Amino acid sequence: MNHNTNKNTVTIETNSSSMQAPSFQGTMGPDVIDLRSMPQNLGLYSFDPGLIGTATCSSKITFIDGEKGILLHRGYPIEELATHANFTETAYLLLYGELPTLEQYHVFKKDMNTHRLLNEQIRNFFNGFRRDAHPMAILCGTVSALSAFYHDGLNISQPEDRDLSARRLIAKTATIAAWAYKYSIGEPFIYPDEEMSFSENFLHMLFARPGNHYKVNPVLARAIDRILVLHADHEQNASTTTVRLVGSTGSNPYACISAGIAALWGPAHGGANEAALNMLKSIGTRDGIPAFLEKAKDRNSTVRLMGFGHRVYKNFDPRAKILQETCREVIAELGLERDPLLDLAMELEKVATHDEYFIKRGLYPNVDFYSGLILKALGIPENMFTVLFAVARTVGWVSQWKEMIEDPTARIVRPRQLYIGSNRRKFTPIHERG
Ligand code: SDX
Repeated sequence: MNHNTNKNTVTIETNSSSMQAPSFQGTMGPDVIDLRSMPQNLGLYSFDPGLIGTATCSSKITFIDGEKGILLHRGYPIEELATHANFTETAYLLLYGELPTLEQYHVFKKDMNTHRLLNEQIRNFFNGFRRDAHPMAILCGTVSALSAFYHDGLNISQPEDRDLSARRLIAKTATIAAWAYKYSIGEPFIYPDEEMSFSENFLHMLFARPGNHYKVNPVLARAIDRILVLHADHEQNASTTTVRLVGSTGSNPYACISAGIAALWGPAHGGANEAALNMLKSIGTRDGIPAFLEKAKDRNSTVRLMGFGHRVYKNFDPRAKILQETCREVIAELGLERDPLLDLAMELEKVATHDEYFIKRGLYPNVDFYSGLILKALGIPENMFTVLFAVARTVGWVSQWKEMIEDPTARIVRPRQLYIGSNRRKFTPIHERG
């Protein structure tokens, strides 16, 4: 990956020595200081446990400006993609760097659709899970096992193999996700339809049943497609960093994406959409908001306002604004009387965004605050919310994985530490320990 050559240097001085560290300027965003020679030159490590101020790679895929609420994919604003592009088009853009021509789009779509089917033996995996297994557990385990079935495409030094595995993962993760849902409700699996769009097929596999002609509602398919576009990639978030780290050891792409799924599952990350909906249910009514917010603001409590706050966005998450609008559209399309949870969410947002505690800390609704409400309105159960997030983010994960593998400067990720344990001490045999 060639950095922007507009290099300056930063002088780093200690009491006894100093060094010139090169700094690099990207296309947009803050410059970075290259500290890789600091251990050798100054005998010092940088210390940044949450990687709050550390750039772990250079990338051309996604740019975020947390202060201005900007999110670009390959330079295209998320608002444009969410309005004018579909998920397959966005997948092409993230994977290959340019929006596809109509011809390229149709060839890509047709090939992607052929990868939706799973090896028939994979059906047996599901029977090994309890019916009440969390679908994320099934997704995580089954995606990792795909490498046991798809041996071609594992020579990741070959571009065509990387491409084949990337397309398989995007297509097959959706099938596994839908089948995990069917398995949890005891209904037969619905095989993918190669003629349908990504989102129509996903809804089809979720809700069609043998013997009934399930008709995909185009408005709901569009809503799902927009949610997938909004969740496709998000720079170096926790799960993407996990995928890059696992990929840096040379692990096969299925293992890398499975690791990303595991990281996304946490309630501080992709699990927040499920947690936000459960939070709204626990608050119950508008009267419950003040007491809940007091708990969320209490530093001694572990309660958090789920769906609020973000490591990068300190004003607003542009995806949350789009999802709020989509939420209203879906609720109206479904003719749901003013959904009480949506009303509660909007009141909670209004109260929290005018509360000094949240304003002072730059805590605003994030992508997870409204996504759960939309998915619930679409009839998708809470335990499938993060699964859908994973289906979408697989596009970002494989794109970032591919970029890392193709970066000649990429190395195995192996950070150091600040050691605060015991000094060297003499071993005492057990019978002498008293
Ligand atoms: C996603 O990184 C990405 O891009 C992620 C994501 C993606 O697309 O990949 O955008 C998806 O993960 C969105 C975030 C979903 N998570 C949640 O909604 C869970 C609730 N949010 C928090 O857990 C928290 O805001 C994080 C994890 C999202 C961000 O954590 P940070 O940046 O480490 O912030 P912090 O914990 O250092 O908080 C700073 C202050 C603290 O208070 P003080 O110590 O200053 O007194 O803000 C407080 C925190 O206690 N705080 C919250 C809060 N979030 C932060 N207080 C109450 N409720 C919250 N939600």
